[in-house]
Amino acid sequence: MLAKNDTKFNVAVIGAGYVGLVVSACLAKLGNKVISVDNNRKKIELLKSMKIPNYEPGLENLVRENVRRRKLEFSSDLKRAVRKSDIIFIAVGTPAKENGEADLSAVERVAFGISQVLDAYKLIVEKSTVPVRTGEKVKETIRRYAKGDIEFDVASNPEFLREGRAISDFLRPDRIVIGVESKRAASLLKALYRPLKAPIVVTDINTAELIKHASNSFLATKISFINAVSMICEKTGANIEEVALGMGLDRRIGKEFLAAGIGWGGSCFPKDVDAFIHIAKKTGYNFRLLEEVRHVNIFQRRHFLERIKEELWILKGKNIAILGLAFKPNTDDLRESPALYLINELLEEEAKLRVYDPQAMNKAKKFIRNVKFCRDSYEAVKGADCMILATAWEEFKNLNFKKIKTLMRYPFVADGRNLYSSSQLGSLGFKYIGIGK
Ligand code: UDX
Ligand code: UDX
Repeated sequence: MLAKNDTKFNVAVIGAGYVGLVVSACLAKLGNKVISVDNNRKKIELLKSMKIPNYEPGLENLVRENVRRRKLEFSSDLKRAVRKSDIIFIAVGTPAKENGEADLSAVERVAFGISQVLDAYKLIVEKSTVPVRTGEKVKETIRRYAKGDIEFDVASNPEFLREGRAISDFLRPDRIVIGVESKRAASLLKALYRPLKAPIVVTDINTAELIKHASNSFLATKISFINAVSMICEKTGANIEEVALGMGLDRRIGKEFLAAGIGWGGSCFPKDVDAFIHIAKKTGYNFRLLEEVRHVNIFQRRHFLERIKEELWILKGKNIAILGLAFKPNTDDLRESPALYLINELLEEEAKLRVYDPQAMNKAKKFIRNVKFCRDSYEAVKGADCMILATAWEEFKNLNFKKIKTLMRYPFVADGRNLYSSSQLGSLGFKYIGIGK
């Protein structure tokens, strides 16, 4: 079933969410023939008309180009997609339940769906972030319900894509992790990823699944660590940015993920840290370190709000501009965004909010009430007693602060991402607070 030139594959990617869509478009770019499948028919119709549901830089062009080359198509027909493919990726959501455990019902549903239409050898690959030992369950489900004794393999190939940079993360990864049980599965995945020329770590399935949770939890730990240090900086007059620089140049520590701020959000870190704590508990290990990592993250935004309160005294009736709603720049994703926490708390205190984000406005309008959505930063700061910078978008770096000073009622900037320098804003007559400085 290999496609024509024998080195490329027919691939199905089930789930056309943030991750699935990027994986589909990038595998198509590498020359594979990809069917992107989703059970949400509306989403598939949108995609067929070349509308990308989520903002991801470069994705729309990549999708268009590969649909034109006939390397990529969208479908809600799971049967046809499975039967036409050599390799099937599962990229459906694995959201957190109330208790932090991952909800794997979509993964099970897809595994069952595959079992019903399996007609020849397929390699089924978990792309979604799943707890260790999920591969075993996927395999069991397919074997139990398959109609006949059809050969298949299950593998784990976790994604490490950052939203906003997902395409370059896919095409230029630091490493590719594949967890397999057979030589056949290993050689198929190695061949699929050969064009990327990245180091490939081959492990068993459980190890690959664990690598994903351990990696994201470690990155969250790194950020919470620097945020905890930022508290000491605030109390002692040290500067967190210089501390991070001084630490990060040590290659054993590394410069990345040492930016102090109002904490980590998004669809992955909060969910994955919770899931890892839960996974550990199930094995009988109390991962207290990660509980503290989560605690530091929540404390960080609370403390930031307290400092704003200290300056403004009474929040009721105060005009507050919030720049940035997405959980980080270059995405319109609002999931677990620290900005939403600030908005809820400020609305509780009856502050008047004017908000702006370069990409997330349409999504935000669907569920944020009682705030004024503004066209740009300057409209947002009109009459404001405080400008809160919540997301480090590039366009916020180059704001005209002379103009902003004339627009605000009280020139006060609360910089939740350390985007500005205190001396620069101070010299323009602003009251400025940053994180850990
Ligand atoms: C992904 C991963 O799946 C998750 O484990 C990882 O940690 C983060 O990224 P994401 O792409 O963000 O999730 O999820 P989402 O945007 O919710 O997309 C999932 C898609 O799967 C949706 O389009 C949904 O309609 C589709 N889906 C869900 C199916 O096609 N079939 C199902 O049975 C369930
Ligand atoms: C993360 C992982 O990095 C990626 O490998 C994949 O597994 C999915 O989850 P993503 O959630 O897209 O990616 O964003 P990321 O760039 O990792 O940022 C996560 C959060 O940490 C954001 O809220 C960001 O603002 C925050 N962050 C990041 C900091 O507060 N400081 C930093 O130094 C870096």
